[in-house]
Amino acid sequence: MPAAYERYLVPAVFRPFADDLAARVGALRPRRVLELAAGTGVLTSGLLAAVPSAEVVATDLNEAMVAFGSARVPGAVWRQADAERLPFSDGGFDVVVCQFGVMFFPDRVAAYREVRRVLAPGGRFLFNTWGPLDTHGFGEALQAGLERAFAVDPPQFLRTVPHGYGDPSVVAADLAAAGFTVEEGLELTLEGRAASAADVATGFLGGTPVRAAVEQRGDDVAAVRATVIEEMTARLGPGPVSAPMTAYVFLGAV
Ligand SMILES: C[S@@+](CC[C@H](N)C(=O)[O-])C[C@H]1O[C@@H](n2cnc3c(N)ncnc32)[C@H](O)[C@@H]1O
Repeated sequence: MPAAYERYLVPAVFRPFADDLAARVGALRPRRVLELAAGTGVLTSGLLAAVPSAEVVATDLNEAMVAFGSARVPGAVWRQADAERLPFSDGGFDVVVCQFGVMFFPDRVAAYREVRRVLAPGGRFLFNTWGPLDTHGFGEALQAGLERAFAVDPPQFLRTVPHGYGDPSVVAADLAAAGFTVEEGLELTLEGRAASAADVATGFLGGTPVRAAVEQRGDDVAAVRATVIEEMTARLGPGPVSAPMTAYVFLGAV
């Protein structure tokens, strides 16, 4: 999964937002940065470039992601960690940052409390979340392909998990419940670009939990993939494709 994620999804979907978050962290001039849910390290490499003097500790729940990310971005200190149980002492970081990870945390308020515990006085928590699925051109096209491939019980992972925490008032309330002051909450729409709709389909079908959802349904995976690519190409066009993608960026202060 990490290899397909890195090859097909990172350039199209994740790098534009990583560049944005890295620049925001750079403006805070931190000395110690903790990254949560770092995945294959697209933001991690951006952080090292934006704040070369900082120590960057990158973590993820998934051992395979940590193995892949640490090989790709060796300039950070990598560690396996669940955001709800951080293996760090109190007050050790100036900034905690997380790109498109909080939607996966089962208990977000508990995770935000952990973030607050490991932040130094005056520290900041910076993260982004996706808006609803219909604000993400690639995700919406992929979901339409899945609904065509599975007339009954199509996988709903994209709608309910990565795009299931897309109400900024809920996010702000969770931050406040964990004791953060919400300094900023802004909507950000960036353009995703890929060589083809097939590349985007391959990224989602090979590099995310959509893959397991398709396999569990027991259908011919190659036939599902062909249907999804056909639908995505009809919606996004042949050849190079682009689509708007909307996220919310939050800055919380201790
Ligand atoms: C959509 S990926 C984002 C990865 C990376 N931040 C990026 O922008 O490419 C979500 C990541 O969250 C991680 N994750 C899921 N639950 C987690 C948890 N409870 N604690 C830490 N990481 C978690 C997954 O392993 C996955 O790498």
